[in-house]
Amino acid sequence: MKIQMAVGLAVAAVAIIAAAPGDDTPQFSPNDWLLSVPDPDDRARLLQKQMRGFDQPMLEVGERYRSFKEALGRGNYDLAAYQWRKIRVTIENGIEKRPGRAENARQVFLDATWDEVRTGVESSDPVKAVAAYELANSSCQACHVAEQVDYVNAQVLFETPPFK
Ligand code: HEC
Repeated sequence: MKIQMAVGLAVAAVAIIAAAPGDDTPQFSPNDWLLSVPDPDDRARLLQKQMRGFDQPMLEVGERYRSFKEALGRGNYDLAAYQWRKIRVTIENGIEKRPGRAENARQVFLDATWDEVRTGVESSDPVKAVAAYELANSSCQACHVAEQVDYVNAQVLFETPPFK
């Protein structure tokens, strides 16, 4: 009986080894949601879907803007300038994904007011910083109107001034 079991186990072990794929067969974990897709186009499509559209960069822009305002309120102009630069990068990346938003993004924001706001913030002058903030606030909202998502403007983010 014991011998039969041992033989059975040995046979099973051989079967498992034989079934094991060779070294050139890629091994994926169940978490390899991207690597395990064989076709490169299908893989790119999956990645594209996960990268979302304009909403996710805007969520990031919103958070950075919150920090930008707070930094201005505390006179931390270096942090405000940092966030303002990152906001630009995020919007530029966003219009790469959604070229239909590019025209308004450039006309209303990137090529229009972004640099003026940067100069005002980098001046570290409280009066110029307030003016820069007001310009920033109106140009974010102008793009929302132009892009027909003006409901985005009706939130505390755009209402609370950083200076009292
Ligand atoms: C292209 C012009 C454009 C500019 C410039 C722009 N936005 Fe937006 N924003 C949009 C659009 C379009 C949406 C809605 C996105 C969607 O429906 O996928 C949006 C959505 C948002 C949202 C909601 C995101 C969410 O899903 O919760 C926030 C917050 C936001 N924007 C903040 C800002 C701030 C702050 C600025 C300025 C620093 C700014 N936006 C500049 C076009 C713009």
